[in-house]
Amino acid sequence: MQSLVSILMTLILLSGCAATQAASKAEPEPAQSHFLNFPDGFIWGTATAAYQVEGGIRNNWSTAGFDAGASVNHWQRYAEDFEQARKMGTSMYRMSIEWSRIEPEPGQYDQVAIQHYRDMFAELRRQGLTPMVTMLHFTLPVWFEAKGAFSKTENIDDYIRFVSLMARTFKDEVNWWNTINEPLVYAFKSYDEGSWPPFQKDRNLALRVVRNLILAHGRAYRVIHAQDPIAWVGYAHNVTLLHPNWPLNPVDQIMTGVQSYLFNQAFWDAIVHGQIDFQAPGLDRLVIPYQRELQGSVDFIGINYYTRYMVTASGSTLTRSGAPVNDLNWEIYPDGMLETLRMAAPHAKALGVPIMITENGIADAKDSQRPKFMLEHLNQIWQAIQEGIPVHGYLHWSLIDNFEWIERYEPRFGLMDAERKWRPSAYLYRKIIEGNGFPAQWLKETPTELKREF
Ligand code: BGC
Repeated sequence: MQSLVSILMTLILLSGCAATQAASKAEPEPAQSHFLNFPDGFIWGTATAAYQVEGGIRNNWSTAGFDAGASVNHWQRYAEDFEQARKMGTSMYRMSIEWSRIEPEPGQYDQVAIQHYRDMFAELRRQGLTPMVTMLHFTLPVWFEAKGAFSKTENIDDYIRFVSLMARTFKDEVNWWNTINEPLVYAFKSYDEGSWPPFQKDRNLALRVVRNLILAHGRAYRVIHAQDPIAWVGYAHNVTLLHPNWPLNPVDQIMTGVQSYLFNQAFWDAIVHGQIDFQAPGLDRLVIPYQRELQGSVDFIGINYYTRYMVTASGSTLTRSGAPVNDLNWEIYPDGMLETLRMAAPHAKALGVPIMITENGIADAKDSQRPKFMLEHLNQIWQAIQEGIPVHGYLHWSLIDNFEWIERYEPRFGLMDAERKWRPSAYLYRKIIEGNGFPAQWLKETPTELKREF
């Protein structure tokens, strides 16, 4: 058991890091004559998730009062959506398989649904798009939720059975897998904040779920590799940057350090070391003794980056006052992309794996902020690559407007709207992909000047 002193030392060190990170600004902007050229073979793509786009799904969300209904009917219209993705110039499409479709009742597999996903993969191949497939993107079969989902260690077996079936069934079609999307977001929204199904408010329970998701990930990684030794397997990790609200207040710093470690780093550490032993003040210990199957269980580090929050002395999080925000009042903070990549870099190095940006995007119905958002975040990624951080691809969230969880259909993250009409940023994205980069000058242009470029 870690002593209180060592925990406090860790927290102070971590909060020191957070404060330094908060203070360090991005690198100087590149000269205006520069062309921000991305490495040859850089992967450009878009991302979606089954429940958010497919329509007609019954799962733990639909039965809890958040029915996505027909959504944007991607289930029927996938071929035209993939065609649009190809026309944008992308070469990778991140999607998820809906577990509740495949296994609507425990042990009963829907062959029609399996064939439908097979048809989708075939269509992706026809369009020249490589699928990256997520096994679990927040939603669960109703029966799995009813038995306590990942709050019970023994339930991991059900998830592994599903993962194993998918890996076996689609090993010839799918080379890139994410075991889980944003495990920490899922655990804390569903079990601590209580805003997502099953609406629990118990922080220690959330920690137990995190522990079980770490174990589930390690096992899923091995199961997929048993089917396909050369698959690229990872998980999509959300980094929400956390900075102290009052940078010089030691209590804000400590609260930031604890939260940032738990939320942004602990899962990575568990994978690097094959174990974890962490205790935040007042909470149960998060402990996994060394597990061989967990250590090194990623072939890439997937990062979803959207925003940052300021942490107060009480531990609550705020949007920085006066900050530029998106339609969901999330701060637009492009510098955070570089900071995130610098945070991930030592883990990527220790594991010897590249980084993929598995999501980045903005809720912006008018598309008035998205072009700049995209350029500024790509600028930060480009800077990271110049520093030697091995970023191999960028998947924009999202190809199309979709069901945004408890906010339902109001937020618009799509490069296309639900009618499949391209927003201006889709044209910009196409232009960036065509050039495998863009002139630094574009970062300085007003939205009207910029529009003339694409
Ligand atoms: C999730 C997506 C979500 C997006 C925007 C990510 O955290 O993976 O499902 O739509 O953020 O909120």
